[in-house]
This record gives sequence, C-alpha cells and structure tokens, in this order.
Amino acid sequence: MEKLWAGRTTGGNAALADEFNRSIAFDARMIEEDITGSMAHATMLGATGILPQASVDAILDGLSGILSDLKCGLLKIDPLAEDVHSFVEFELTRRIGDDGKKLHTARSRNDQVALDLRLCLKKEAAETVLLTKALIQVIASIAEAHTETVMPGYTHLQRAQPVTFGHWILAYAFMLERDIRRLDNAADNMNLSPLGACAFAGTTYPIDRGMTARSLGFAGALPNSVDAVADRDFCLEFASALSILMMHLSRFSEEILLWTSWEFRFVELADEFSTGSSIMPQKKNSDMAELVRGKTGRVYGDLVSLLTMMKGLPLAYNKDLQEDKEAIFDAFDTAKQCLSVFAPMLSTMKVHPEQMRSAAAEGFINATDAADYLVKKGMPFRTAYKLTGQLVALCIANRRTLETLPIAEYRELSELFDEDIYEAVNLETCVKARISEGGTSPESVRAQIRLIRERVLA
Ligand code: ARG
Repeated sequence: MEKLWAGRTTGGNAALADEFNRSIAFDARMIEEDITGSMAHATMLGATGILPQASVDAILDGLSGILSDLKCGLLKIDPLAEDVHSFVEFELTRRIGDDGKKLHTARSRNDQVALDLRLCLKKEAAETVLLTKALIQVIASIAEAHTETVMPGYTHLQRAQPVTFGHWILAYAFMLERDIRRLDNAADNMNLSPLGACAFAGTTYPIDRGMTARSLGFAGALPNSVDAVADRDFCLEFASALSILMMHLSRFSEEILLWTSWEFRFVELADEFSTGSSIMPQKKNSDMAELVRGKTGRVYGDLVSLLTMMKGLPLAYNKDLQEDKEAIFDAFDTAKQCLSVFAPMLSTMKVHPEQMRSAAAEGFINATDAADYLVKKGMPFRTAYKLTGQLVALCIANRRTLETLPIAEYRELSELFDEDIYEAVNLETCVKARISEGGTSPESVRAQIRLIRERVLA
C-alpha cells in the first residue's frame, strides 16, 4: 500500500521498518472514533465553505458506507496499512475517488490521533464507572445482609476489635466510590477537542473548532494547538485512576484469599468462580482473586510505561506517542475484565458467620471495651489500659477469656469491676455500642449503606 506521506521520500521503506512503524494492529480498535471524527471534520469543512458541499456529501456517504461494511463484516481492516487513519483515507478514496483526497484538508494525523484516543477513552472511562457501580451495589447488598454478623477486625493482621462483616466489607464500597470520582474527573479533564490543532501550529483555513468539538460531544476545544497534539496527560490520568482502582481490588482480593483459606474459612467462593489442582484432589483455589491481584501489577506497569514514555519528549508531536495506545488499552481492558469477574464472584460468595463469630471469640478483641468499662467508672484511660493488659495476661495464664474469668479474679485487679462487666465485654454489646458516625454498630452501618447507594445512584 502506498504511503499517505509519499512525496518527499519515495515512501518505500524496508519491510522491517514498515513493520516497526505500523500501528494498525492496535489502533484499528479506534476505527469507529476515527470515522466519527472524520465525519464531524468533513461536515465542518462544508459548513465553513472550505470544501464544496457536493464533496462533503460524497465523503460522508463514503464514510458511512465504510462504517456499515465494517460492522457487517463486508470490509476487513488491512493488516498491512500503516495505521487506522491511512486505512480509512485510502479506503474512502478507493470508493469515492478524488473527493476522498480532500478529507485531510486542515487536519493532520497529529490532531486526528489525539481526537480518536480522547473519544475512545471517554467511552471507556464511562464503561469502567458503570462496572464499578455494579460492584459497589453487590458489596452494599452483602453488607446489608451482614449488619449483625460479628467478626474480628484486624490491624497488623492481628485480631483487634469486634466489627460486623457488613461494616468491614463496606469499606471497599467507599474506596471504589472515590475511584469513580477519579475516573469521572479524568473523563472531565479529557473532554476538550484537539481537532483543528492540525500538525501543531493551527491552520490558515477558516475552520470552526467549536463546531467540531460540540458535534463530537466535547465541552469545547483545547485552547492551545501545540498542547492539543503534544500531551497525553489524559492517558496518564485515566491510567492513574485505574491503578488506584486496581490497588483497591487487589487488597480486596488479598482478603478474599485469606478468608477462603482453611485458617480463616470466613467465606467460600462458588464453584463457578473457583478452580482445583491437577494433583491435589482436595484443593479449591481462589484463582480469580489471585489473578486480580496479579493483574494489578500489569496496570501499574502500563502507568509507568506511559509516564516514562512521556518524560523526555520535546514539544510537539513525536512518534514515541504511538506507544500510548497499547499501554492505555491494556490498562482499561484489564481493569474492566477484573471488575466484570469480581462482581459475580462476590455475589455468589457464601459467608460463614459462625466461623467469623468463633474467630472473634478468641484473641481478646473486647479488651478495649473492658478498659472503656473502667473509664466509665472513673478510672483514667491510660491506667485502665494498663490494668486491662494485666487482665489479659492473667486470662492467658489461666486459659480464660474476658467472658469466662470469674468476678473474684476481676476484682483482685480492681474494685471497680462488677457483674455488669460480662455484659460490657459481650461481643454483640461491643459492636452495638459503637454508634459513632461511620462506626460498626448495625444502625451506623445501615446509614452507611444508604449513603453509598445514594451516591452510586446520583
Ligand atoms: N500512528 C500514529 C500515532 O499513533 C498516528 C499519528 C502519526 N503522526 C505522524 N506525524 N506521524 O501516534
């Protein structure tokens, strides 16, 4: 295939160079955006009188023919084309003749590719948000079913204080809700059109950038034409939002992996979302969660590739920028795939409240409540803290728990202890008493569920 740019040189490259230069293998996925952008551009060229309307009509006709033939499989993308932009232009010219050669008036592939990518990423960011919302809904439903399910909360992976499973899992919903805001922000920031920047300096033709921007759904046109073709910060922002989202999914996965182990057995994944071993017949593995955790590294890698690719580039366009696509495509493909698997993996997950309750019964996770009991009776917190520590040591030495230590032994340490200490250290009481805003009591958690649902629906 002849080069778009044959002229100054013959356009005849070494086969190796052609192959090295070619981006059709990955930018072909932006063909719809490329055609939509070209249609908006051609329409504007007609409206401003830059091209005769008859040529514009022929171009629009030709482009919609290409689009529909692509959709029904009649037209195949030529894997030997240099990139998606040349492919569409050559195909158009093949179909409509010389009018096709007029399409690129007042345009460069530099603003064209920046446009295609923005159109594509806006759509992908919106889809990622929808998938994230669906996952939040699943988490909210699980939380709703477990506002009274007592489990040990952890710090340093040591049993720390009693919480409910609903409260614990809902933490992820709020993290993901911030991810949505980051994704929306990235989409907002990329919502300006580079089209009309041309190579980088603008053009002598009387183009109407506002018109193309509006017709393509942008809030306006990027104010500086050099910036419009030179930067890829919109990829970086999207990739960072995706990396943070993946970090959250990865932590969540890590917990699911712990919870599905025999050491915890807090939950069990459905067979449909588990795997086995080829040699150990008893195994039930949580590969989906492991893959999400593993793929997080991949998305970070995409972000670092993009950052590194950009860091030394002089203005304006440089061919290095062609490397943006595979990285950002991989980042959102991966994140969307992870979100898609995560939601049904969670919604089919079986929770074992009795296992959580018995884990909560060991580890003295009500010690803070015993100290608070003394504080309520007038002891300074630091003194109560120390005394309760001695109490725990006494229990460990005598194989007791705070629930089973006889009152006489309590009273040897402090006269402030009475029979009501047993009610105070009861795990259900401990949970129900944490009514502070955002806390673990069933009513606080129900308020949090209402809040997250409102935010996701908003
Ligand atoms: N395939 C190129 C890219 O992805 C399209 C833009 C080409 N522009 C140029 N001046 N060679 O960046």
